[in-house]
Amino acid sequence: MTKPFPNTMDFSGYNAPSRIECDVYDLVIDGELPGEIEGSWYRTIPDPPFPPLLGHDTYLSGDGMISLFRFENGHVDFKMRYVQTERYKAQHAARRGLFGLYRNPYTDDPSVRGKGRGAANTTPIWHGKRLFALKEDSRAMEVHPDTLETIGEWDYGGRLKSLTMTAHPRPDPETGELYFFGYEADGLASRQVAFCVADRAGNLIREEWFEAPYCALMHDFAVTKEHIIFPVFPTTADLDRIKSGGPHWVFEPDRESYIGIMPRNGSVKEMRWFRHPARMSFHFMNAHTAGDKVHLDFGVSNANVFPFILEASGLTFDPAKLRGGYVRWTFDLSKPDDTIEETMLGPPGDMPRVAEKDHMKDYEIGYYQRFDPTIGPPLLAGPVGGGFNAISRLNVRERTIRTLPMDRRTTVQEHIHIPSKRAGHEGYLAFVADIHDEPYSQVWIVEAGNIEQGVVCKLRMPLRLRVGVHGNWVPAEAF
Ligand SMILES: [Fe+2]
Repeated sequence: MTKPFPNTMDFSGYNAPSRIECDVYDLVIDGELPGEIEGSWYRTIPDPPFPPLLGHDTYLSGDGMISLFRFENGHVDFKMRYVQTERYKAQHAARRGLFGLYRNPYTDDPSVRGKGRGAANTTPIWHGKRLFALKEDSRAMEVHPDTLETIGEWDYGGRLKSLTMTAHPRPDPETGELYFFGYEADGLASRQVAFCVADRAGNLIREEWFEAPYCALMHDFAVTKEHIIFPVFPTTADLDRIKSGGPHWVFEPDRESYIGIMPRNGSVKEMRWFRHPARMSFHFMNAHTAGDKVHLDFGVSNANVFPFILEASGLTFDPAKLRGGYVRWTFDLSKPDDTIEETMLGPPGDMPRVAEKDHMKDYEIGYYQRFDPTIGPPLLAGPVGGGFNAISRLNVRERTIRTLPMDRRTTVQEHIHIPSKRAGHEGYLAFVADIHDEPYSQVWIVEAGNIEQGVVCKLRMPLRLRVGVHGNWVPAEAF
């Protein structure tokens, strides 16, 4: 008998586990679905099937559920399945939670000692004609792109040495290569980072390891046509703390950040580290190189805002002390010092996305999410607590934003960008909208270039979709 989940931020309200594997054939659509949208939108969601072993846990521990919206001939079909990881199968067989603290195997039930803890709950990515579900503490899980059945762990035919793979690999739209890395590459709290490249066909063609200045939560990185950028912000791990049953991550506001930059066609031995006061960021919108200058665009803050990490760090969330914004950091490689030039691009936010064609080069438009207090008070949704209530189109050259009109009862899950085949058309944004006084979620589609004009059409879901982490669009012609 499964007991109720704890009545905490991570498990209640819109964050209540869904636990629903399902198929919905031909979703009800309000409005006109643009006929050119043909393809598959995959999302991954942490969705714990059982209450936590220790009675409490973070949202980020939830077993990976993967969902598929398939757009075909003006219809949309929906499918959702758990990723059958070793972790999922062990808990399913036992009919209870068996894993303890986030990324701390020393707190697990003895029956799962030595078993894989990867939850495959963060990002779905399509590369080399294969679909993967990713979580940064482990290797990829391959999933069938039509049935969502789990195929198994993916290690590039036995060639990948790293034990981990980031949930934010970076595809090069022109070469078809996939750039990625794995931190804690050889074990818990290790400083070893593996930098890897897979070719268009999905063959691992590079794997080089380097030592980070310290073991940090390296959730994302950035790639330009000429450089690779590895940000190391001071959310840190310590093996002795983990072994004693403590938290994997703490934020250390007095420790420096390091930004490593290496030539893309060079070696990790050529890494140059720029030092900077403590900052935190989870996602980078884009980066590009112009001559000796490397530009990195992202939402930055002076604190890690995940409640479970703040608590572990002995810190409290104080909105009055939180500083941040959407910025461009410029690194001048012709100069010998650590100077980073910061240019403000827009108000604070996260979940950035650019059109895939713009990856890695100078670009004009990005889309990201914000919390706008003028719309309404925070509503409980997602792993940080308060959900985003605004999606904005940022023109990074003009430093102007345009925003989708929203109301005070709605939060948004991460948006994806769907390219248009029409010349001069900026494409579409699609995202799950959670309307907090209605029982079920909706999917909203907007024209990216006309975001301020509102929603083009809505897909009506016959269930509530737990807040996912990331998603990706795979056009029909890619299969
Ligand atoms: Fe992420």
